[in-house]
Amino acid sequence: MAVYKLIGPITQLITLDKLPLKGALKDESLSSIAQAGILIKDEHIERVDTYETLKATTTTLQPELIELDGDYVAVPGFVDSHTHICFGGSRANDYAMRNAGKTYLEIAKAGGGIWDTVTQTRKASQETLTQNTIARANRHLASGVTTIEVKSGYGLSVDEELKMLRAIKDATPQVEADLIPTCLAAHILPKDFDGDHAAYLAEISEKVFPILKEENLANRIDAFIEEEAFSNEVVTPYFEKAQEMGFDITVHADQFSTSGSEVAVKFNAVSADHLEASTEKEIALLAHSDIVSTALPGASIGLGCAFTPARQILDAGGAVAIASDWNPGSAPMGDLLMQAAILGTFQKLSNAELLAGITYRAAYTLKLDDRGRLAQGYLADFNLFPTHHVNEIFYHQGKLTPQQVWKNGKRVQ
Ligand code: NIG
Ligand code: FE
Repeated sequence: MAVYKLIGPITQLITLDKLPLKGALKDESLSSIAQAGILIKDEHIERVDTYETLKATTTTLQPELIELDGDYVAVPGFVDSHTHICFGGSRANDYAMRNAGKTYLEIAKAGGGIWDTVTQTRKASQETLTQNTIARANRHLASGVTTIEVKSGYGLSVDEELKMLRAIKDATPQVEADLIPTCLAAHILPKDFDGDHAAYLAEISEKVFPILKEENLANRIDAFIEEEAFSNEVVTPYFEKAQEMGFDITVHADQFSTSGSEVAVKFNAVSADHLEASTEKEIALLAHSDIVSTALPGASIGLGCAFTPARQILDAGGAVAIASDWNPGSAPMGDLLMQAAILGTFQKLSNAELLAGITYRAAYTLKLDDRGRLAQGYLADFNLFPTHHVNEIFYHQGKLTPQQVWKNGKRVQ
């Protein structure tokens, strides 16, 4: 027997229904329902309408009535489509060194940076990594993030990458948010690997990819395309193999130098993430594709560098998602809402563009078309903010947090 719930009245419900994947969005395009209700059937939204209409027309379904008192704005549960929340240790020293004048790449060359986290993550047991992931996912959930992508990439050997992905898999049933795993074994060439970049990637594709399939550990493959990491040439056979095996491709692109977005286009990636260094050429390339450009303001804030040119990408007709990149090195804050709000002030993004970026546009990069909008048939994943108008949410720059978080039709916060 289906279980129905009716929640309301909600002062303003922002549906995001039918808004396009690509291009600029004006705030006037945000459709809203005043004094709204959400009728939930099991895990999904059965109907949205005014609360009074729903109450009057659904009596035969005998929904459990959840009556709200006071002002609330409902928006879809947030989707963070790029994180590295499975890791051991801290990189507070890197952070201090950067602020004292060393660059991210200098620190990496001196043995800090990603390699430092690899060392600390390898020392951690699979169970510790699971617990670390659970704790961070729960913090995210409390701030309204109901779907979280999680990358490996701090193991950097066959066994250690598998350990990370198994830790993420173990965390998944223990958290209310959905975790979407990605294999980022192509993060950097591990210092202890006996061979070059091509040999390392060949080993990963040969020994890790089949196990990802067998154990259902991930169906997404990511690579960091950068001088200090992997080149366009070296990653090509790796991505070809991944595609042959049916994996989706996503790319850390154009963070410090360009060429990653070209790789993303070549492989028709689901997303190209970072793009802080993209020029007009890369922007045009991305905007003319269906690849979602993912801005990672947390990395710009953490490194003190330029923001992704989100305004230009949207104006050129591209799709822009916004993700936290939560990681111990470049983006330790991990507050998606605050970061999106800050990106908005620097890049002059409308509230509609910010909301789209952390809901349905981010969901698209994960190939999840069942969430990110509040309309019939979508998952009942939503946040109730204790305020009267959607503009208040970004105005408070992350300090207004949801009072209620709903995931799969259940209140989880
Ligand atoms: O997305 N750019 C490469 N990878 C991560 C940073 C990882 C780290 O510094 O630990 C990123 O910013
Ligand atoms: Fe990243």
